[in-house]
Amino acid sequence: MTFGGNLLIGASGSGAVAFLPMFLSALRTEFSGSVTVLMTHSATTFLPASTMGLFADRVVTGGDPTTWARSNHVTLAEEHDLFVVLPATANTLAAAAIGGAPNLLTTTVLEFPTPVVFFPVMSAQMWAKPSVQRNAALLREDGHEIVNPAVGPRYDVALGRFVTGPTPPTPPQFVSKVAERLR
Ligand SMILES: Cc1cc2nc3c(=O)[nH]c(=O)nc-3n(C[C@H](O)[C@H](O)[C@H](O)COP(=O)(O)O)c2cc1C
Repeated sequence: MTFGGNLLIGASGSGAVAFLPMFLSALRTEFSGSVTVLMTHSATTFLPASTMGLFADRVVTGGDPTTWARSNHVTLAEEHDLFVVLPATANTLAAAAIGGAPNLLTTTVLEFPTPVVFFPVMSAQMWAKPSVQRNAALLREDGHEIVNPAVGPRYDVALGRFVTGPTPPTPPQFVSKVAERLR
């Protein structure tokens, strides 16, 4: 059964952002609504916004002031039913945990009227750090959902080889989380 809605996906600067188009394609098998991808500047250095635009209905980066009148944290919060962040970097989790708003993605987390779903993606060492776990706990205390990464093999772009560590969700796991929230 298909489901709809207006979905906002925040994409921050993990190498795994290069796989986001796969998740967007998987979503289309069940999702009949609209998808906006909100990319941080760092995310656009891993994957050009133009490539993301081939898979999303709309891509927002916040980098061009001529777009600010229509694409800002307030309009994005108003126009969407659900905000998920995939991949969520340690940096983005940290900013969101302290109510920081250094970019459009984190400002929109503050503006969004309902809890945000974060999918952290980072190395085992980063994910295990007390500071990162503290930030995840703070976000949970504030009512947000942090989806704990599963542990398994994944290709690490920083090392250039497969490692065992926290893995991003599979596309079906991502689709079922979105469906759980939007159905
Ligand atoms: C090759 C490479 C891969 C990276 N992968 C990750 C990652 O998976 N998770 C993470 O938290 N940070 C990762 N980083 C670090 C982030 O890109 C960096 O913290 C950046 O400032 C994040 O910005 P943003 O949160 O505004 O997108 C990586 C950096 C490089 C150079």
